[in-house]
Amino acid sequence: MYEPIAGRFNGKALLVTGAGSGIGRASAVRLAAEGGKVLAHDVNADGLAETATIITTAGGTVETRVGDITTRGECFDTVAAAVAAFGKLDVLVNVAGIAASHHFTDMSEAAYRRMVAVNQDAPFFFCQAAIPHLLESGGNIVNVASNAGLMGQAYTVAYSMTKGAVIQLTKSLAMEYMKTPLRVNGIAPGGIESSLTAGYQMPDDLDWDFVGRYAGFRGMGVPQDIAQLVSLLASADGINIHGSILSSDRGVTAG
Ligand SMILES: NC(=O)c1ccc[n+]([C@@H]2O[C@H](COP(=O)([O-])OP(=O)(O)OC[C@H]3O[C@@H](n4cnc5c(N)ncnc54)[C@H](O)[C@@H]3O)[C@@H](O)[C@H]2O)c1
Repeated sequence: MYEPIAGRFNGKALLVTGAGSGIGRASAVRLAAEGGKVLAHDVNADGLAETATIITTAGGTVETRVGDITTRGECFDTVAAAVAAFGKLDVLVNVAGIAASHHFTDMSEAAYRRMVAVNQDAPFFFCQAAIPHLLESGGNIVNVASNAGLMGQAYTVAYSMTKGAVIQLTKSLAMEYMKTPLRVNGIAPGGIESSLTAGYQMPDDLDWDFVGRYAGFRGMGVPQDIAQLVSLLASADGINIHGSILSSDRGVTAG
């Protein structure tokens, strides 16, 4: 289980956001283990350094960049840094994200704006910056959305909105670039054990009849569950997959 496929990304240059933790770290580690040169990005410098150590200890190639993706400039500069480091870009993996639970009318404007900036605006600007390079390399994009983008969820209205936007970003880009070799795909994870879920705060007066609907029946996955899908979609093995949102949620969106 979770065994990397050696050499699958030999000669490829990849950019992974949110690589300091959780799904982003697992993806960066897996892509590097499969031979890719990875630019790992995160706002969390310590987490990112830990990711880099894991990769280099295993003999992989990684560059790191610390920054906050809530500005368009950081998204464009990070893509430029990847191209400067590796001479090209083959794959963009948008993973960085934040989550929060509120009664709808209690969410502050600042919290709402930050959620949109990280989860929705940043993937948009990363795609804008990366696509010219991906068209040159015949590359592809993998966006990490969420089951929350596919279903209505109480108490996470803003999060669900932004993840729905990531799904539309994916599918609409897939249409706009249909006549090019560019592939654009997304993944919709259900609950995954990570710092995001470990630190998740919820108001204590929620109606659990609603929350149980999206917690599901089969427990949580681990970041490697998603990393292996990132790897599949980003590699030549995903050649026939374009404009797809792959659910990896233990059945949460089954019915
Ligand atoms: N964990 C889950 O249950 C779950 C489920 C569905 C979707 N997702 C999505 O998967 C992605 C990764 O989540 P995770 O569970 O690995 O969480 P995580 O908190 O472990 O990792 C997210 C990373 O994004 C980084 N980040 C946050 N804001 C940033 C900013 N402004 N600039 C740069 N980096 C920033 C964080 O520092 C962190 O390292 C997110 O987009 C999340 O919405 C997670």
